[in-house]
Amino acid sequence: MFPSLRLRRLRRHPQLRELVRETSLSPKDLILPLFVRHGRHQQIPIASMPGQYQLSVDRLAEEIREIDRQGIPAVILFGIPEKKDALGSDACSHSGIVQQAIQTIKEVNSSLLVITDVCFCEFTDHGHCGVVNEVAGQFDVENDATLELLQAQAISHAQAGAEMIAPSGMMDGMVESIRDGLDEAGFHHIPIMSYSAKYSSGFYGPFRDAAESAPQFGDRSTYQMDPANGNEALREVELDVGEGADILMVKPALSYLDIIRRVKETYPEIPLAAYNVSGEYAMVKAAAQNGWIDEKRVVLEILTSIRRAGADMILTYHAKDVARWLN
Ligand code: PBG
Repeated sequence: MFPSLRLRRLRRHPQLRELVRETSLSPKDLILPLFVRHGRHQQIPIASMPGQYQLSVDRLAEEIREIDRQGIPAVILFGIPEKKDALGSDACSHSGIVQQAIQTIKEVNSSLLVITDVCFCEFTDHGHCGVVNEVAGQFDVENDATLELLQAQAISHAQAGAEMIAPSGMMDGMVESIRDGLDEAGFHHIPIMSYSAKYSSGFYGPFRDAAESAPQFGDRSTYQMDPANGNEALREVELDVGEGADILMVKPALSYLDIIRRVKETYPEIPLAAYNVSGEYAMVKAAAQNGWIDEKRVVLEILTSIRRAGADMILTYHAKDVARWLN
């Protein structure tokens, strides 16, 4: 007890602070999301996400080399196709925008891990994450019809060279269905990183500008989770574990640190990812641009907190900045 015990002793020397630090943050923990669009010579800034761009496939090579040089181990791809339709056909086509991007990346660089987001909202004209139909008198995303399409999309990504599949649509049974599809097509070695506990969140706003994927009617609350429910996240995670998910994910991150912690405590042996989403990024950027916060300090603090809560890896738009600051 005080005065013999003085915890400030361990805080006096900077090197000592490093020695007793329990949480680490490295560029090696980070996955950078990339928006790939149709067209040529395009690098279109995303207004609500300063520093992020939609890149056309011919602009990818340079970007990929830089990411690799910075020591970031992985990217996750989102596509903006030339044409959208009711079923999001571009998503399953071997000449689709994401498939083209994967091939290009694998040609320039074979060491970077290529992850693909598997969902339909960027590819459908209605902007929902699957097949929209009247279900019990209401327009809704039809779960089981969507599963078949998710399977086709995942297989198509694997055929193009994707090294990990990340389904984000929050359909019941999506992991099992994608696992079965991949296995049957000979891709039993391709892991699934499931967006297991993905909440229906206002923090996705800037992403929907970036990916041009805002729903044209209604919202995603019939498939994404209710922010008021914590226990249900554990049920979602339990299902995904049973269906064969290799990596779990909680999304968003900052408002859901309690969920990250609970999932990590329940499944300490399963790798856990957290998605530091577009709205979280936009808030930090806006405040920093106004001179209201110290960007570097706040970003490192946020990412460290997400790691401290229990995330093994973080999907974040700050990845390149962090690599620059920490290298
Ligand atoms: C696709 C998807 C979304 C995000 C990742 N995958 C958008 C959504 O669910 O509306 C959001 C990522 C972010 O906000 O950074 N379903």
